[in-house]
Amino acid sequence: MKKVTVSSLLKMKADNEKIAALTAYDASFAKLFDEQNVDVLLIGDSLGMVLKGEDSTLGVSIDEIAYHTKCVANGVSRAFVVADMPFMSYASAQQAYSQAAVLMRAGASMVKLEGGDWLLDTISGLVQRSVPVCGHLGLTPQSVNVLGGFKVQGRSDEQANRLLADAKALEQAGVQMLVLECVPSSLAKRISETLSIPVIGIGAGVDTDGQILVMHDMLGISANYMPKFSKNYLSETGDIRGAVASYIAEVKAGLFPSSEHGFN
Ligand code: KIV
Ligand code: NA
Repeated sequence: MKKVTVSSLLKMKADNEKIAALTAYDASFAKLFDEQNVDVLLIGDSLGMVLKGEDSTLGVSIDEIAYHTKCVANGVSRAFVVADMPFMSYASAQQAYSQAAVLMRAGASMVKLEGGDWLLDTISGLVQRSVPVCGHLGLTPQSVNVLGGFKVQGRSDEQANRLLADAKALEQAGVQMLVLECVPSSLAKRISETLSIPVIGIGAGVDTDGQILVMHDMLGISANYMPKFSKNYLSETGDIRGAVASYIAEVKAGLFPSSEHGFN
């Protein structure tokens, strides 16, 4: 089985083939997802919430991400593995280099950082030092205290133009993939069409180049919490493999997300 790489992800965008991504935190789920041909697995700092039970991602450490990255990498043979740089692990460029090295050595093929223009030098420095970078714009959960909550971003024209400019600047600085979280579907479409790198959406409508969900949301693990942009595939299928296959098939066919999962 051919491994997914930055080149094949770029080609998928060029060929209009949707990219299916999920978060993963351990080898067993990573292996199951990999066997269903998920394209990208992210060791998200969402682990602070779904594994540790905290109410934000701020308490996650580089060692925790590294541990889970190692676990996921051990379960994967095909998927492309991306690891989140946690809160304050990339406050300076020098720090980003040393912390990214920890995640790359743990088995990541790319690291993800949240933010726009202030990160450009850090990003080009990482890429020059052989660390592929994924950007993350829109709702950036590490900034929850600045944003005043987990809220949809880019609703005003001014915010939307700012986000588009940030996305272009990130691409220019060398990011090879971009996550867009909780932005209006029309804005996500515009950004995806403007960039040549793959744009992966979550709460960003169907017109991005791919989709990602937190695995716990996709499986409906939290009985009384389901974000508007997510969907419980386990309740439809009654089987974890079936749920994952159905999610991937719906992403590939452009059936997920439907308009009810998006923001206007
Ligand atoms: O931490 C995470 O799981 C993420 C995804 C939601 C994109 O950053
Ligand atoms: Na994250």
